[in-house]
Amino acid sequence: MTELIITKPDDMHLHLREGDILKHVVKDTQKQFARAIVMPNLKDPIKSVHQAEIYYQEIKKNTKDLNFEPLMTLFFNNALNIDEIRKVSESSLVHAIKLYPSGVTTNSADGVDAIENCFNIFELMEKFDVPLLVHAESNDKNVDIFDREKVFIDRNLSQIHGEFPNLRIVVEHISSKEAVEFVFDSGDKVFATITPQHLLFDRNDLLSHGIKPHHYCLPILKRSEDRLAIVKAATSGSPKFFLGTDSAPHFKHEKESSCGCAGIYSALSAMELYASIFETENALEKLENFSSKYGSDFYKLPSNKSKIKLTKKEFKIPARIQVGNKEIIPLFAEETLSWQLSEI
Ligand code: NCD
Ligand code: ZN
Repeated sequence: MTELIITKPDDMHLHLREGDILKHVVKDTQKQFARAIVMPNLKDPIKSVHQAEIYYQEIKKNTKDLNFEPLMTLFFNNALNIDEIRKVSESSLVHAIKLYPSGVTTNSADGVDAIENCFNIFELMEKFDVPLLVHAESNDKNVDIFDREKVFIDRNLSQIHGEFPNLRIVVEHISSKEAVEFVFDSGDKVFATITPQHLLFDRNDLLSHGIKPHHYCLPILKRSEDRLAIVKAATSGSPKFFLGTDSAPHFKHEKESSCGCAGIYSALSAMELYASIFETENALEKLENFSSKYGSDFYKLPSNKSKIKLTKKEFKIPARIQVGNKEIIPLFAEETLSWQLSEI
């Protein structure tokens, strides 16, 4: 196959940030995706529908002539009460609530400390059919970083799903074979997003032959067997697994540092990367559902009308993206990919 025309995809897990970064990165995303689930972990997290409406306007201001729709989310917090959850369920802008255990990742200090104190909110979300998006990693300091996803699933997520079987859950950016098994084995309300980095890399690509700060993200890259389980899930044709890049821009100097930030910037060439993986697996015919259907079905949104074209053609990823006098290094910087995307 040398050309693939598919419905324009949606990115169901994206970090746009704010201010100058937002201005730049939203342009990359809108070339690839018609809509995106926008994560709420700003420095001052988006905790109410009112804040989400203001953030939505900021994003729209930067996409003036562009055909792009941000799908907003709230940062799970203890102030969520019945009125606010009802508001979310009635809002056409806000689509879900994202739970971060406190301290697990970028800008998550305000996250949840004790999951067991959140059950009244889960109950309301289940009742009002508001999806729960989960950064499924334990914040227990005694848990090894490579086991944090598995431990969170065993200690917390299984219990949440057991107590609230009708609560729609997305396990975000799955990184382990245990997460794949949990999603496959749970009822039809449990889904997962899959990033390009967890399909392409394992921890050797992060830590072997020199440390690669631009491959550092959370959940951290794991073993080869974990990567293979995720590839299998993505290309299985199961509607439980859909595209979410987790594209998360940080400046070069913040990543190449003695305490480097977690997050990989993949928005520039996400679809080209997914296409390469699906091609390697002989599963290109499954790419459209994974990228353009299962995610919007989960969020009960219509499919996009526009299309994109992926052509088998070499294309080199730029070395950097300039944002004022600072730089963001994109995933696969200066490397050549074998697919190229164009809008039609
Ligand atoms: C994300 C970010 O930088 O906001 N970082 C990451 O490594 N994925 C947050 C997140 O999704 O964990
Ligand atoms: Zn993320």
